[in-house]
Amino acid sequence: MSEPIDPKFFRSVMGQVPTCVTVVTAMVDDAPIAMVIGSFVSVSLDPPLAGFFCTTGSYSWEQLKKADVLGVNVLGEDQIDVSNACMRDLTERFDGLDWNVVDGAPRIAGTTAWLTLTEHQIIEAGDHEFGLYNVTSMDIPEEANPPVIFYGGGYRTLAVLDIE
Ligand SMILES: Cc1cc2nc3c(=O)[nH]c(=O)nc-3n(C[C@H](O)[C@H](O)[C@H](O)COP(=O)(O)O)c2cc1C
Repeated sequence: MSEPIDPKFFRSVMGQVPTCVTVVTAMVDDAPIAMVIGSFVSVSLDPPLAGFFCTTGSYSWEQLKKADVLGVNVLGEDQIDVSNACMRDLTERFDGLDWNVVDGAPRIAGTTAWLTLTEHQIIEAGDHEFGLYNVTSMDIPEEANPPVIFYGGGYRTLAVLDIE
């Protein structure tokens, strides 16, 4: 029989798997909501589906689930301050940020990519839920803006490999 999985070691092992850094946003009762999400992933091309995992019991996630439209702001390598801002107390997350409501959800200026989502299905997943969403609109800047990466518990930038 295999050894039981140690949660701390599991976390360290998964810390070796790099992720994107997104801020998932919504307008709920006229107030902007933001949650930093690294588990954002595309799921299906036809129909266009994408989703992310949220820890159950998160207040932000409970708010996001109430919204008709979610925004996904994929952060650029120059937007670590935006990620840090969105880890502050819920009511302070948009303080000092450049944002406006686009297609029903808060869009933060200067991101790598932007999508809006509507709910497809919320799926139980252990101590998380997987929010599976329809992609309803999207945008990228004219000039590509490289993303910030989360790896080993910290933020990184991508490097181009010099291979001939
Ligand atoms: C880089 C990064 C990625 C994160 N990814 C996720 C994620 O995919 N799912 C999640 O539930 N929390 C994730 N978190 C943690 C949540 O952003 C954080 O716990 C949440 O905003 C707290 O909100 P709450 O106090 O309202 O629950 C991430 C945090 C960081 C810094």
